[in-house]
Amino acid sequence: MRGISRRELGKALATAGAAGALAKPGVANALQPNDLSFPKDFRWGTATASYQIEGAVKEDGRGPTNWDIFSHTPGRTFNGDTGDVADDSYHRYAEDTQLLKNLGVSSYRMSIAWSRIFPEGRGQPNSKGVDHYKRVLDNLLENGIEPYVTMFHWDLPAALPGGWQNRDTAKAYADYAGYMAGQISDRVKHIMTVNEIRCYTDLGHQVGVHAPGLKLPPAEVNQVRHHGVLAHGLGVQAIRAHAKAGTQVGIADNTTFYVPVIDTPEHIAAAKKATREMNAMFLTAIMEGRYIDEYLKQEGANAPKVQAGDMAAIGSPLDFVALNIYAPEWARADDSPRGYATIPHIPSSPHMASPWLIVGPEVAYWGVRQVSELWGPKVLYISENGASADDPVNNGRVDDADRVMYLRNYITQFHRAVAEGYPLKGYFLWSLMDNFEWADGYSKRFGIHYVDFKTQKRTPKLSAAWYKEVIRRNAVV
Ligand code: FCB
Repeated sequence: MRGISRRELGKALATAGAAGALAKPGVANALQPNDLSFPKDFRWGTATASYQIEGAVKEDGRGPTNWDIFSHTPGRTFNGDTGDVADDSYHRYAEDTQLLKNLGVSSYRMSIAWSRIFPEGRGQPNSKGVDHYKRVLDNLLENGIEPYVTMFHWDLPAALPGGWQNRDTAKAYADYAGYMAGQISDRVKHIMTVNEIRCYTDLGHQVGVHAPGLKLPPAEVNQVRHHGVLAHGLGVQAIRAHAKAGTQVGIADNTTFYVPVIDTPEHIAAAKKATREMNAMFLTAIMEGRYIDEYLKQEGANAPKVQAGDMAAIGSPLDFVALNIYAPEWARADDSPRGYATIPHIPSSPHMASPWLIVGPEVAYWGVRQVSELWGPKVLYISENGASADDPVNNGRVDDADRVMYLRNYITQFHRAVAEGYPLKGYFLWSLMDNFEWADGYSKRFGIHYVDFKTQKRTPKLSAAWYKEVIRRNAVV
């Protein structure tokens, strides 16, 4: 049969409509309209990180970090951009709290700069740094906003010899995290040990595009990864030892998630297997307390050197798992020994302003579902999700309808996960405002507030108005 043209189709529909053959809008049929509202206690927030927003890199005794050195090395960041000033949030935090208050968020995820607390990574704490964060936290609490704190979001004290290549850094991290937890757990109920292990290990030591910019051979990369997860595990123990009883401890991880290409049992199982194996050195190790056989076999002599007690620490039980979910990967079932094939991104894969940020909202649903099915965490949060956009300013407005499109689609998929009963309790949008986007400098904007970096003026974008309405109605809008 030949296909019918659009014009013919239009005519046919018009006739059918006139004859009353089409369902009338508003008339109930067997399908129920989607209820896109969230449970009453669902937490809405935004997220930021210290080096990306604070500036004030030489103030109040802060020690230099790997990112200060990296960003000041010619050729490492877009345009030579650095975090020296960033959003100047170190001085403007009270103004930023008002942005949060105006959005109506109940929560805010922020990170603490280790080198403000221990300028050399270890040794004597710097009370000025500690007091600064107490002021920031008090300001949030006074405004009815609950802080969720990340202890390490990539800004590593430069004085630590060998950085993440040195096992001692994991121990130094735990000492810092334990100390700081003791200082702030009267104000903070949720602490995340580290942010995105894959980034501060692989991107910095294998790919070389993040600090410290190394391209190490596989055995050394695996050792860095091991130190990365060990820091998390020792950190959990240290935080529990020093924080007030009841403090909830978790991690913010950017697990690589494989979305099944078709919703059939065989593809769903294949994608889940891919997710478990491809994260063997990170979240899988943390949730299972061991390196799975597939990983050890694949790495052979390059596998990490593990000391007695390491895996028990790495597998320390968590109160919650928080996920940073952005781009999807795809997998399908196949008849290879491992049972799945992964499908690479190609130029026609849609993406936002950052080339890596492939758009695939289903990853939001599958990420939550796969982590729940694989490891059954008690509580899940989305610690980051958001998008870069071009954000042209027209007569003082930024109508970022593309970012709203992205967010609406992802949050709809998180809703699906909540509706199906997975224990997702909150969502932190990345980011409250434009900021220093690592190697991309200030060229990629992820904020829902526009920042003019010359004047430091913050202006809500269309997406801020949209998110405010999501929060007000506690529903996808
Ligand atoms: C994540 C980082 C965060 C920010 C977003 C866009 O990988 O955790 O700091 O750069 O990406």
